[in-house]
Amino acid sequence: MQEILQKIEQLQRAAESSIQSAIDEKMTEQVRIDFLGKNSPLTELLKTVGKLPPSERPVIGDAVNKAKDYIQLLMFKKKADIDAKTMGDRMARDRLDVTLPGRGQQLGSLHPITQVRDRIEALFSSIGFDVSEGFEIEDEWHNFEALNIPAHHPARNEQDTFYLENGKLLRTHTSPVQIRYMLEHQPPMRMIAPGRVYRRDFDATHTPMFHQTEGLVIDRQVNFGHLKQMISQFLRRFFEKNDLQVRFRASYFPFTEPSAEADMQCVLCDGKGCSVCGNGWLEILGCGMVHPDVLAAGGIDSNEFTGYAFGFGMDRLAMLYFGIPDLRLVFENDIRFLRQF
Ligand code: FA5
Ligand code: MG
Repeated sequence: MQEILQKIEQLQRAAESSIQSAIDEKMTEQVRIDFLGKNSPLTELLKTVGKLPPSERPVIGDAVNKAKDYIQLLMFKKKADIDAKTMGDRMARDRLDVTLPGRGQQLGSLHPITQVRDRIEALFSSIGFDVSEGFEIEDEWHNFEALNIPAHHPARNEQDTFYLENGKLLRTHTSPVQIRYMLEHQPPMRMIAPGRVYRRDFDATHTPMFHQTEGLVIDRQVNFGHLKQMISQFLRRFFEKNDLQVRFRASYFPFTEPSAEADMQCVLCDGKGCSVCGNGWLEILGCGMVHPDVLAAGGIDSNEFTGYAFGFGMDRLAMLYFGIPDLRLVFENDIRFLRQF
């Protein structure tokens, strides 16, 4: 009997040290199987109690059960320890570290057209030009008639006008601002009018909405030489290129006489010819001396005052300034594209 009691004690100690060295749930489960399971030595011992002399049966039975209870208790404690540790680990891992630097907001940037517009306004303001805006929704009189473009004039088709249901239209150019400005101000005057214009046009170099800047200078004895100088100097300042070549070609606009279109040397290839310009030159603007009929529509006496006007595409300036190959990219609002500027 003494021998059996010793064996029980040995098993109990073995269980104790196994439990102590268990570090996770899997290992504690193995301890349970080894020491309390159906085939464990203690369970086997219990089965043999019946074969013992009657006097020994309660003693051995009692010892086995006590050992089992004791092992069970140690296991409960171990399990609780492991659970607490698992929880602690998880809390440490998932803890919100408020001292970490934040992911931050993505900073936006000004749209390339806005940057170009700001630049144009800064340049012209610095030499005394007023900035005027006009309206994107115009009437036929300001957009056409007052600019010497009568009802059946081919220029009305050429500009592919968007008409609105109320008889108004989306301005096809910024030139109507000339009329509005003349009617509201007295000469001498110098103003620019940057803004959106609309035409039914869409391909790689034309979008249905694009941007123009109108310029108008009216004073005594203003002549075409002043106009040429203003345009050439503006473009040289804009592109920061003092030897930029600018050429004027005779052209026709109903609201100016004489009229011209100005081309500038391509800044992408230095006038050598590339996929954007073709032959090294790019058409930038239309211009001319304000037609006497237009001065009259603006309430200005053409015997006393003369003036010049010009209108250029800002989108093209932006393309050249930033080296953008396709105008449509500018209006697709793809943040990956816009973030580059
Ligand atoms: C005009 O719109 C005249 N109002 C310009 C003017 C003003 C002449 C004052 C005389 C006096 P035009 O249609 O050529 O002209 O357009 C002027 C410029 O706008 C062009 O040189 C070009 O740079 C730009 N432009 C014209 N159509 C488009 C378009 N669909 N997309 C982008 N830019 C355009
Ligand atoms: Mg044209």
